[in-house]
Amino acid sequence: MNPTRETDLGTPASTQHETVRIEIDGLPTTVRAGSTILRAARESGVDIPKLCATDNLKPFGSCRLCLVEIEGRKGYPASCTTPVEAGMKIRTQTDALAKLRRNVMELYISDHPLDCLTCSANGDCELQDMAGAVGLRDVRYGFDGDNHLDAGIDSSNPYFSFDPSKCIVCSRCVRACDEVQGTFALTIEGRGFASKVSASLNEQFIDSECVSCGACVQACPTATLMDKSIIDNGQPDHSVVTTCAYCGVGCSFKADMKGDQVVRMTPYKDGGANQGHSCVKGRFAWGYASHKERVLEPMIRDSVDEPWRIVGWDEAISHTAKKFKDIQKQYGRKSIGGITSSRCTNEEVYAVQKLVRAAFGNNNVDTCARVCHSPTGYGLKQTLGTSAGTQPFESVMDADVIMVIGANPTDGHPVFASQMKRRLREGAMLIVVDPRKIDLVRSPHIKAEYHLPLLPGTNVPVINALAHVAVSEGLVDEEYISERCDVDSFAAWKACVLRPENSPEAVSKISGVPAEDIRGAARLYAGADRSAIYYGLGVTEHSQGSTMVMGMANLAMATGNIGFSGTGVNPLRGQNNVQGSCDMGSFPHELPGYRPIQDDEIRGSFEKLWGVEIDAEPGFRIPNMFDAAIAGEYKGMYIQGEDIAQSDPNTQHVEAALSKMECVVVQDLFLNETSKFAHVFLPGTSFLEKNGTFINAERRINRVRPVMKPRQGKAEWLITQELAQALGYPMNYGMEAEIMDEIAILTPTFNGVSFEFLDRVGSVQWPCNDNAPMGTPIMHVDHFVRGKGLFIETDYVPTEERTNRKFPLLLTTGRTLTQYNVGAQTRRTDNVVWYKEDLLEIHPHDAETRGIRNGDRVSLSSRKGDITLEAKVTERVQPGVVYTTFHDPETGANVVTTEYSDWATSCPEYKVTAVQVAPAVHRSKWQKGFERRAKEQGKILETS
Ligand code: SF4
Ligand code: SF4
Ligand code: SF4
Ligand code: FES
Repeated sequence: MNPTRETDLGTPASTQHETVRIEIDGLPTTVRAGSTILRAARESGVDIPKLCATDNLKPFGSCRLCLVEIEGRKGYPASCTTPVEAGMKIRTQTDALAKLRRNVMELYISDHPLDCLTCSANGDCELQDMAGAVGLRDVRYGFDGDNHLDAGIDSSNPYFSFDPSKCIVCSRCVRACDEVQGTFALTIEGRGFASKVSASLNEQFIDSECVSCGACVQACPTATLMDKSIIDNGQPDHSVVTTCAYCGVGCSFKADMKGDQVVRMTPYKDGGANQGHSCVKGRFAWGYASHKERVLEPMIRDSVDEPWRIVGWDEAISHTAKKFKDIQKQYGRKSIGGITSSRCTNEEVYAVQKLVRAAFGNNNVDTCARVCHSPTGYGLKQTLGTSAGTQPFESVMDADVIMVIGANPTDGHPVFASQMKRRLREGAMLIVVDPRKIDLVRSPHIKAEYHLPLLPGTNVPVINALAHVAVSEGLVDEEYISERCDVDSFAAWKACVLRPENSPEAVSKISGVPAEDIRGAARLYAGADRSAIYYGLGVTEHSQGSTMVMGMANLAMATGNIGFSGTGVNPLRGQNNVQGSCDMGSFPHELPGYRPIQDDEIRGSFEKLWGVEIDAEPGFRIPNMFDAAIAGEYKGMYIQGEDIAQSDPNTQHVEAALSKMECVVVQDLFLNETSKFAHVFLPGTSFLEKNGTFINAERRINRVRPVMKPRQGKAEWLITQELAQALGYPMNYGMEAEIMDEIAILTPTFNGVSFEFLDRVGSVQWPCNDNAPMGTPIMHVDHFVRGKGLFIETDYVPTEERTNRKFPLLLTTGRTLTQYNVGAQTRRTDNVVWYKEDLLEIHPHDAETRGIRNGDRVSLSSRKGDITLEAKVTERVQPGVVYTTFHDPETGANVVTTEYSDWATSCPEYKVTAVQVAPAVHRSKWQKGFERRAKEQGKILETS
């Protein structure tokens, strides 16, 4: 068996706690009641042959290979579908069983290509293993009869192939797609000998409903469904457990290796967040790490019009240090700063914020979370006391009602979406609050009870109206509130939400959501035993993002829905380490652990360990950095893994700011939009080269383990450390684990964390300290972290961004499944087959009145700028609303977004822009500029 294959116990674990005594092959053993005989035997060290069973799918009982004998019973029951009973005496190896199993295998093998030696699954094929296990030596039926050996191969999917000639019709793939992924893309078509696996309506995989999660490939016991990377490169010889570098679900993977080459990423069964499941990005889209465009040598230039000059690491670092020192000498200590990246490890992020505070001597450090989930940090801290979500993902399995607000989990957080869909199929009710008809509203075996298609910018009145109904109809949990919450703040909040302007009828006029739907949704959420809220950037990226976060926390507290499984207020984090980059002190006013920089005692503890005085004054947020740059006061910037020229709003403003700076340092894998304005390029490392930790949306600290050395020759924390040293600050870590040790000393919620601990226990959810040595899956269990839960009034203040005759539509933005943020990684993988460019979704009515047909190029203009892109006419968006993604720099979606931002955190209002759409006559001015700059960049590179 291949050494990288994980143990398969045959059927899922029993959920019962009682045990029973049984006897297997004459040996007594104690097993969990409710286990199947197959599982009980495997747990007791007895391997009964099997093919159609696997331990993440319900038993099916089709292959008849796992037959056993049970004393006192007639016949040969299938062990995978027969539960154990106290006193049962089971025999797994008898002559009769051996004969039956050999017969079964003979039938399979008589219709199977005999190319084991050259088959790409050789050494990792359960059919091959079983032929050996049952001692098959001969096939009496010959190979001449009817067979499926000529069935054609479907290679349409870029990542896996389907060779039906090797299929044994065990249905594991179909069940994986149904039970694990929840897409229901596969069926067994036909009967008996004619039965075969079919994707959707007998289509090629690429044209079917398949979303390429890989669950079927994982489940297939033969070479029928195979990773193309294995076909091309051969079987792995070892594997390293690490963490996906894409979204905030934080899936664990085994990087399956052949020498130092990754040949497959296999979702790890013991992964705390994913339990063996994956999505197309983590499972397949890792090839960008070795893409030919990766920059592997440092580069510098004096002006952005000059070619890059390749230099050694020493020169790059001393040059950068000199530039920064000169700038500070001329413009002052606060004229430089840094941005940390949520794609980097905690250790790398921590090193950068320390560089800014200890070596730059100011607090001008911010992070890309500024533009996504900063309102989460603020809103949850104010109301509950902690800047993080309240639940582990598995908590959703206990929810009776799930309310998804401003999130599209099937695209943005696919593995969690699969878990949520499982719970919905089991009977939980769903409320979707989103301007678009996202997939969850209606998908196979799932239908939202309520979809509230609110107008972008009206989250706050809608949450107030939901609260209005809960309060006015007596659905609040008075006992919970009096025991756990600040009752005065509750009284004030109650009076606020009961005001007439917060009634469903009044809010209906603002939001466009029918009043009876608001009432129905409120009754459903507030009336259930356990209701959970999951939300995304559709909540936070608004001028009232923080208000809305507090509004959700208010509603959850008022209805007693925080502090136990199945409930909570749960942010679905965008990037892999958004939670971690915030935890690590990346904000200008907070040290690691969200502790105020202005607190002398806290600051003193860092000063003591760091041996340096820390500025007590908060530094610039990202938007302030841009404004200060335009004002000529901010001249240098260290940008860790973030393409601000593409991802931040109002692109022209960002570009103007970058153009005014004297030393822009970009540390990244690829040249990007921001590097067009950079003077120093420090090549970064991919997740496959990093040693450290990421923290996912459920506060889970996962290990990231290197499978190869840094391809550009230097770990990223070491680059930061050497820059600090060149600036005169003695940062002296010997290895990444020492950085985590320092984080643990200085951050109370991380006191119990170390690499050694994580390697031992797998992963842990913070807080992890003496009070919670094994971490804290559910927050606020007995009381809120802040003491009493605080209700905060959430008056609706409409955004200043309004539609008018010139800009009558509202633009909102989001992600698509196969792409990730600005696309720097995913656009450099075969995921592009599902995504050519950003499209503008527009309702048929709005399209028709503008003379726009599906596929037309249209101009999208706002008060800030205009771009052109292709129209997709669809009823997923409501009339008056248009939608696009922001994955392609050439589209420049953020050229049109505005400078409006959340009142508390400056998180940009990406989700509401007043726009006009018209048939495009020519490329937009911005896009022509983009093409010109791209050409110049090309020329510069050629001469570099
Ligand atoms: S494709 Fe694989 S998993 Fe699916 S039925 Fe065939 S052998 Fe079984
Ligand atoms: S890859 Fe995933 S979605 Fe596609 S058929 Fe397989 S299990 Fe279903
Ligand atoms: S769900 Fe997120 S973390 Fe998991 S594999 Fe997909 S992108 Fe990676
Ligand atoms: S493994 Fe039990 S019938 Fe297939």
